[in-house]
Amino acid sequence: MSEASTPIASKSVPKAQRHRIDPATIEYTSEKQKNAVQALIDEFTVSADLLKAIKDNFIKGMNKGLERDGETLAMIPSHVMGRLDGTESGSYLALDIGGTNLRVVSVHLSGHGPPVTYQTKYPIEERLKTGDAKALFDYMADKVGSFLDEQKIKVSPGTQIELGFTFSFPVLQTSINRGKLIKWTKGFSASGMVGKDPVAYLQDAFTRRHIPVRVAALVNDTVGTLLAHAYEHPDTAMGVILGTGCNGAYIERINKIKKWKDAKEDVAADEMIINMEFGAFDKERAILPLTMFDNKLDRKSVNPNSQILEKMIAGMYLGEITRNVLLNLVDRRLLFQGQISADLNQMWTFETAYMSAIEADASPTLHATRKILESTLNFQSTDKVDRQIVKLVVELVGRRAARLSAAAIAGVLEHTEGWKKKASIGIDGSLFEYYPSFDTDIMDGLVEVFGETVRTNISIGLAQDGSGVGAALCALLAAKHANGPLTPNVV
Ligand code: BGC
Repeated sequence: MSEASTPIASKSVPKAQRHRIDPATIEYTSEKQKNAVQALIDEFTVSADLLKAIKDNFIKGMNKGLERDGETLAMIPSHVMGRLDGTESGSYLALDIGGTNLRVVSVHLSGHGPPVTYQTKYPIEERLKTGDAKALFDYMADKVGSFLDEQKIKVSPGTQIELGFTFSFPVLQTSINRGKLIKWTKGFSASGMVGKDPVAYLQDAFTRRHIPVRVAALVNDTVGTLLAHAYEHPDTAMGVILGTGCNGAYIERINKIKKWKDAKEDVAADEMIINMEFGAFDKERAILPLTMFDNKLDRKSVNPNSQILEKMIAGMYLGEITRNVLLNLVDRRLLFQGQISADLNQMWTFETAYMSAIEADASPTLHATRKILESTLNFQSTDKVDRQIVKLVVELVGRRAARLSAAAIAGVLEHTEGWKKKASIGIDGSLFEYYPSFDTDIMDGLVEVFGETVRTNISIGLAQDGSGVGAALCALLAAKHANGPLTPNVV
């Protein structure tokens, strides 16, 4: 099953605003309940001092990762050099895996104005995520084949379509279209892939099916996001994903990438995009304010003791952290009179999307919150205090995520001194797009670190399909690099 192929509409800036609940207005039923909520506020609040300390520690991690391989922040050279000026043109395919769905995208760059894209999304069943890697790559190749049929894309005889492969997992890249998977993240664990080259697997699957596609570039979604945003905002200095997972990429001076020893690369370029893999930050648990709720989530995840920052920020996890907090209050008989619904008792049932609706709930009786608890999660009844507490817990978890994202972005802006001049940051991902006030919380965090100047200098914007357009741009850059300008071969 797939969604019908759709043109990707222009995205608009997130509109919903958070309606904050003042804890002083909660009509607590007991002193014990009030104290428990206050303890949560203390535990989940990232003060300005802590935010700055995390940023400092993050910069140290960046420097270590630039020096040698195998550090907590992998700081992976993307092999993408050179900047875009928005005049690039051509037609490409992109294949995107690493979010909720698999996507195949056709991207048409006219050299002026926004790219035109068509995409089809395909679900990825759990058995493919966690089964044998070959089956997963065969599935991807099949879907690219169906997409070519659906879109009636014909390939001139003897040629191949160039494809940018957005594979959003930590991959140690050895060239623009080669690399080795370091580890899986975000619930994937397909066997036999760690240490292997995802491009080789995909190309092999195309070849076995006689699908005339060449994997021209291997791209992380953050790198794609940076490139896609740069196509329309040439001053883009960073690409960030805040979605199912989280991560960032930025432009680094090659002389600062101490571990970069590859003399064969283009010596004319003095900058390269670095995929930071910042979701892995603080594996050492030295600075992040981890709570028992985070530890519980980590222990029960498919990748324990890995991606610690990602598990405090990303959309895949925020609902589950919230659920853990609510269960604890229920167990102490401080919420829902100690009763739980069978739904909420199951892992992963409290979706991050519910948090967005609860954050935006401005009604005096917390009507939207009630609907989620009673209609979606099947609580028989809830009272207003229950709903007020749920809303506050959601806010604490959501705001902490935004402030930790700010700490990481601030780390990059300080390291590159990027905050001192005008620059754009492109951010993609459902969390950034739909979670109320995530953007304003991030900017407020940056202002706490750098002062008001950062508000005028740095513009944070929703990136236009970084994983699709960015992969196409990367395929284009790869071709430019290797053979001079490419002539489009898709008709
Ligand atoms: C992956 C990154 C990716 C991020 C956002 C993380 O789990 O390790 O490579 O950029 O998710 O999709």
